[in-house]
Amino acid sequence: MPPALKALLSQVAGLAIAFALARAGLVAGLWPLVGVQALGATVAATALNSARWWLPIHLCFLPLVVGAHGLDLHPGVYLGAFVLLVLVYWTSFRTQVPLYLSNRDTARAVAELLPARPARLLDIGAGTGSLLRPLARARPDCHFTGVELAPATWLVGRLLAAGMANLDCQRGDLFARPWHDYDLVYAFLSPVPMAEVWQKAARELRPGSVLLSNSFPVPGREADFVVEVGDRRATRLYGYRIGQRAHA
Ligand SMILES: C[S@@+](CC[C@H](N)C(=O)[O-])C[C@H]1O[C@@H](n2cnc3c(N)ncnc32)[C@H](O)[C@@H]1O
Repeated sequence: MPPALKALLSQVAGLAIAFALARAGLVAGLWPLVGVQALGATVAATALNSARWWLPIHLCFLPLVVGAHGLDLHPGVYLGAFVLLVLVYWTSFRTQVPLYLSNRDTARAVAELLPARPARLLDIGAGTGSLLRPLARARPDCHFTGVELAPATWLVGRLLAAGMANLDCQRGDLFARPWHDYDLVYAFLSPVPMAEVWQKAARELRPGSVLLSNSFPVPGREADFVVEVGDRRATRLYGYRIGQRAHA
């Protein structure tokens, strides 16, 4: 079951439990009912095998909604926040790839993996271009492309890349773009799409090219090399060389 559907069902289950207990006269008053709903939703999410990080969200969701209602904010504030979140996270509920950014240490480690000759790198799910900009500055002889689906994230990346001749920020779906033109494809996504990413890399990349995945290895496939970035979050880069092996 998709995580978004599990979340919806958990919240509805919490509401149903609170409603049933209120009807039976076992719980009364706004905050006790809110507490029952929050606990019920959390238990339902556990029963539905939701990822652990959903549990605090379920526990806090209705209490925050009711608390925020008491602040008497203009409805436009909620609409504005909703629109902003949609433009930044876009289809994360479907792709299960949220936004988090590569750091400077990672960009330095990736720069060391670029060939000495002019090369082409593609960042699939480029976010705001935080990996690509330092690379484009460090290697003016190379060309860097980012493809990003979320409109606001892409726009920020595009604006920040203005004037950088060797950096191109494109808006689109990483699976809809051809990858055959690139020497290195960089991914910082989530465990969910990695099998599909590998299939596309093996199908489209030329022998000698590299798929480099930040933090999330390809399931069922041993990396050809692993780089320990040595930063505070202990970033690991998993490298997969495309060769005859990949096409076999
Ligand atoms: C974890 S962020 C990584 C950002 C950037 N690569 C970096 O390292 O700083 C993943 C990004 O991939 C984007 N994304 C997820 N699925 C995508 C898809 N199918 N096509 C294009 N972008 C996608 C998300 O919107 C998000 O901005």
